[in-house]
Amino acid sequence: MAKPVHIGLLGLGTVGSGVVRILQENRASILERAGRPLELRRILVRDLHKKRAVSVSPDLLTTSPADLLDDPEIEVIVEVMGGVEPARQYLAEALRRRKHVVTANKELIAKEGHPLLDLATRSGVFFLFEASVAGGIPIVKALRDSLAANRISQLMGIINGTTNYILTRMARDGSSFEEALREAQARGYAEADPSSDVDGYDAAYKLVILASLAFGTRVPVERVYIEGIRSVTPVDIAYARELGYVVKLLAIGKDLGESVQLRVHPTLIPQEHPLAAVSDVYNAVFIEGNAVGQLMFYGRGAGDLPTGSAVVADLIEVARHLERGPVIPACSCYTQKPLLPMGKVTSQFYLRMEVLDKPGVLARIAGAFGEAEVSLASVIQKGRGIQPVTLVFVTHEVAEENLRRALDQIRRLPCVHAIKNVIRVEGERP
Ligand SMILES: NC(=O)c1ccc[n+]([C@@H]2O[C@H](COP(=O)([O-])OP(=O)(O)OC[C@H]3O[C@@H](n4cnc5c(N)ncnc54)[C@H](OP(=O)(O)O)[C@@H]3O)[C@@H](O)[C@H]2O)c1
Repeated sequence: MAKPVHIGLLGLGTVGSGVVRILQENRASILERAGRPLELRRILVRDLHKKRAVSVSPDLLTTSPADLLDDPEIEVIVEVMGGVEPARQYLAEALRRRKHVVTANKELIAKEGHPLLDLATRSGVFFLFEASVAGGIPIVKALRDSLAANRISQLMGIINGTTNYILTRMARDGSSFEEALREAQARGYAEADPSSDVDGYDAAYKLVILASLAFGTRVPVERVYIEGIRSVTPVDIAYARELGYVVKLLAIGKDLGESVQLRVHPTLIPQEHPLAAVSDVYNAVFIEGNAVGQLMFYGRGAGDLPTGSAVVADLIEVARHLERGPVIPACSCYTQKPLLPMGKVTSQFYLRMEVLDKPGVLARIAGAFGEAEVSLASVIQKGRGIQPVTLVFVTHEVAEENLRRALDQIRRLPCVHAIKNVIRVEGERP
């Protein structure tokens, strides 16, 4: 029998329990694939007496990180604790001691991933993070290995299940954002404090990880344009539908050659686009490569077993290479392209405004658009006689700075009561 690979697990919550269950239930097939048995040696938790979702020997549990870090038998540390500190500190220490690391922690990778990857390279050990983006979808390895022959020009992802669930409910039932959020919380899809999800930060962490793999360039997460879904209303979703679109929270990355653009915001996409069919808590990443063309990866972006599936796959990769001597994938960032400022980013826009219903109003608004070189693809007027009426526009593609200029002027027109919403549009309607 081959010598086991001893694992130290940091955390035994949702993902940690999924990892343990998979290691227990798929033991035989994992041994076949890894070449050595994967064995848990210690598990770090905060509370030794908490009831656990999986059965593990109480002797494995500890509250002392030194029990894992100081143990020379432990070759791999799996981090599923969450948060930046103390996870960063424990992983840095593990890497210095030449232990391989597998983590699911997107916040940590997005904020501190590069120094940790550099440290791993210097120590000659693995630092793998498949589970950090889109849970069970094998997108990190796909970008790193399977698509390595391509120049990736763009990626668009629905990479936050909570917001996708909320937007799906709003579209299906006409519920408000607040009602849909309460339902997501009741089903365990949203945290009591949902801001990391609904304000777009979770998706931004994942986007910078994907962009570093796809475009080979590092962008600090603080520089990503981020807009959450709190301002999306059922009214906008209904108008979008009338125009042939659905509203999704998209994480968008584009490589423009000299620069890159990275942004997270609610987006109208054509009903025919493959991402439009991605509903409920499902995630998907749509990619365009110059050799492979268009690809879409679809699946469960969270949960104990889907995320555990990605963690254990990384463990198997480590175990295989321990057998043969490691071929360590170093940091994938080989260029340093500047981020395109949002003002220069071009897209189409959906705009909803309330205006007085009287002759000449549309002409004045159209004039303001024209002066800023914004041209219109469609206009809908809703209501007649009751003041104010709603106007909905979809523009042709235009730079954000031009649109902002037009809106500043439109806002000052006495006939305009309010600009109620502005949402970007991606993808051509057929
Ligand atoms: N949940 C998902 O579906 C999902 C999907 C993809 C990625 N992730 C990522 O996976 C990681 C874990 O998420 P999770 O949902 O499994 O979290 P969780 O359920 O809150 O579990 C966290 C675990 O870490 C332990 N822990 C936390 N801080 C600790 C500390 N300072 N010292 C010792 N133990 C500590 C906790 O111990 P106690 O149990 O004793 O409190 C708990 O067992 C996060 O980075 C998350 O972003 C999660």
